[in-house]
Amino acid sequence: MKVLAIESSCDETAVAILEDGHLLSSVVSSQIEVHRKFGGVVPEVAARRHLEVIDDLVLEALRTCGTELAEVDVFAATMGPGLVGSLLVGLSFAKGLALSLNRPFVGVNHLYGHVYANYLVYRDLEPPFLVLLVSGGHTEILLMKDFNDVELIGKTRDDAAGEAFDKIARLLELGYPGGPSIEESAKRGEVKYRFPRPLTERNNYDFSFSGLKTSVLYFLKKNPESRVEDVAASAQEAIVDSLISKTFAAAENLDVRKIAFAGGVAANLLLRDRAYEKAVQKRLKIFFPPVNMCTDNAAMIAMVAYEKAKRGLFSPLSTNAVPYLSLDVF
Ligand code: KG4
Ligand code: ZN
Repeated sequence: MKVLAIESSCDETAVAILEDGHLLSSVVSSQIEVHRKFGGVVPEVAARRHLEVIDDLVLEALRTCGTELAEVDVFAATMGPGLVGSLLVGLSFAKGLALSLNRPFVGVNHLYGHVYANYLVYRDLEPPFLVLLVSGGHTEILLMKDFNDVELIGKTRDDAAGEAFDKIARLLELGYPGGPSIEESAKRGEVKYRFPRPLTERNNYDFSFSGLKTSVLYFLKKNPESRVEDVAASAQEAIVDSLISKTFAAAENLDVRKIAFAGGVAANLLLRDRAYEKAVQKRLKIFFPPVNMCTDNAAMIAMVAYEKAKRGLFSPLSTNAVPYLSLDVF
């Protein structure tokens, strides 16, 4: 079964082709340069840019694996959550292809996509396992009970972890997107300052990152002579520390022996190092998608679509974009 999937929920247009769960091609066209001068994603600009590149990108994905459009068995696209204008581009394009070639269509929940990025490498990862989903819009600890069934264990009460990286990077004038630029700057810095780690009481698996952003803001006002690299290293330390300690505490208390990581922030090397250290110490198994499959891509969307299609879980061509799609929808 060959699946062609399109991802266009935010600022990356991506197309992937998967055959029986094996990745044949995955192409991503990032809009980072387009949005950089605004310091964040401009929805209207993002939607228009998706529209400009989507057809070439589909052709490129087909060309790189020598597949003809007519050989595709299932077309899929992200249906949410995300920016509505952006979602509609990929969704409409995939539905149009399905209609014209008389093939089934599968709508995919972007959040399951991030989790399923793990299946691109760990084919035999069996539920139950815990997931730390950390992206620009999400910070959640999930208990994956079955392939299509997750329970929310904890979530952020304000900013997402990726959002915290992005906002703090802006305060430090490090550029967008903030995660990679803070990580880069932190390599040349030292963890000299202690920024807050809120909600530390036992059995509380929620996160809060807006206080951290404010505390960095006040710190910079009071200490204009501090080195950007040291502040970046200290802020990164605070974010990673919160994420790791809560996730491992949840695994321990719920007695789950496996933790998978997902989302753009899972590309962070400090997070990866700390997770490995803690996993060895606690004798837990951990799973990370390859770094380039942590941020938005279509391979992860194709993986969910494949699992849905195998079970006959197709979507009607009336499927609409759902900006706030919840995890109840597989
Ligand atoms: O998953 P993703 O590509 O898009 C969303 O669905 O949100 O995640 C993007 C987020 C951004 O906030 C970005 O700053 C963050 O992931 N990010 C990182 C790293 N790479 C991307 N955060 C920390 N370290 C990184 N290396
Ligand atoms: Zn994402």
